[in-house]
Amino acid sequence: MNPYAQRRARVLAKMREQGGGVAIIPTAPEVMRNADADYPYRHDSYFYYLTGFTEPEATLVLIAGATDQAILFCREKNEEREIWDGYRYGPAAAKEKFGFDAAYAIDTIDTELPKLMANVNALFYALGSSQKLDTQIQAWLNSVRAQARAGISSPSKAVDIRVLLNDMRLIKDEHEIAIMQRAADISSHAHARAMRTSKAGLREYHLEAELLHEFRSQGSQFPAYGSIVATGANACVLHYRAGDAELRDGDLVLIDAGCELDSYASDITRTFPVNGKFSGPQKALYELVLNAQAAAIAVTAPGKRFTDGHDAALKVLAQGMLDTGLLNKNNVGSLDDVIANGDYRQFYMHRTGHWLGMDVHDVGDYRDHVPEGEQKPWRTLMPGMVLTIEPGIYVRPAEGVPKEFWNIGIRIEDDALVTASGCDILTHKAPKTIAEIEAVMRA
Ligand code: GLY
Ligand code: MN
Ligand code: MN
Repeated sequence: MNPYAQRRARVLAKMREQGGGVAIIPTAPEVMRNADADYPYRHDSYFYYLTGFTEPEATLVLIAGATDQAILFCREKNEEREIWDGYRYGPAAAKEKFGFDAAYAIDTIDTELPKLMANVNALFYALGSSQKLDTQIQAWLNSVRAQARAGISSPSKAVDIRVLLNDMRLIKDEHEIAIMQRAADISSHAHARAMRTSKAGLREYHLEAELLHEFRSQGSQFPAYGSIVATGANACVLHYRAGDAELRDGDLVLIDAGCELDSYASDITRTFPVNGKFSGPQKALYELVLNAQAAAIAVTAPGKRFTDGHDAALKVLAQGMLDTGLLNKNNVGSLDDVIANGDYRQFYMHRTGHWLGMDVHDVGDYRDHVPEGEQKPWRTLMPGMVLTIEPGIYVRPAEGVPKEFWNIGIRIEDDALVTASGCDILTHKAPKTIAEIEAVMRA
């Protein structure tokens, strides 16, 4: 069975546990950018997870009824449109190729859906996620309700299908892990390429171009998010994008960039000296962030909590802030005080990681599921989860902060797969230690 059909079978089993019903999962709409130019099309992640189908204007319907059924609605073949826009499967070929029980033209959905929703207890869909879907469902429901006097009942319950799907998507299967490993490899090569290219006088966009070249030439379809290439003080702007600032001798460059491959994201940050050699103060803060990341990696293992990595990294970073004089002990007190009072936030203002998958900030609850009313603990890590580990330190000029550290911004970000005994760093091919980075940049 193909991995998508396997996932559909699992969703249907979960729907059945909740009394059965009909699930409706549309793909994403096409979006215009300006005039006749549209944004590059990206399908909906939930839809793709269950179909492997990448065309726009498609909807998956799953029926957990007397028998299980998976039905695709998609665009019909259209010779005229295919001359302009390229191949489309059409229902017959899509059914065959992707293993659906039936497939119909998307134009028939308004007549077919009310039939499929007749005498069904529950609807499963992404509640309130799209005005278009909400409006369609209202119309389909009204059409079923109109047949009440003919003895036809309509669904009386709506369940947010994302609750089922998010839990499934949080644990990656073998098919997904293989793609994520390849995406991580491509992005690792891209970071190494940017390091090798760097020299004073180039601009941030030159390094962005190197990243994009590597992504695309290795088969990635898109960057998974807007690439950050930030040199000098720009590295202290968390959501800076690659701009046109000049790379200057003696400055660092922070690159946060990852490719999307076959719908799966990678997410890597590396920070390196423009000229290939870390200065003393840069080295001191870089080692600190590296040690914080190592502490987080050490507690990324099954049975640990999602937040254990953040807590471990924070402890190392906060101690380092005291040791380097970024924070003045006389003003802020002990390590415990710095953590309790949040003084570290002056230099470290984000969390240490997030789930990673088809979406760069992937779906999945960050809290364990517990009976209603009980306090939810942070999620327990399990094999198959993938998360980023990305501590950093950002020093904006301020009174009392040693000048030698001003405008240094450092983040080190890797993608970790939780295994049976610990974690695998999928992005291990991106040079990371000072020795590795300086060696790559010397070569
Ligand atoms: N690149 C997005 C993030 O690191 O969360
Ligand atoms: Mn990230
Ligand atoms: Mn990132």
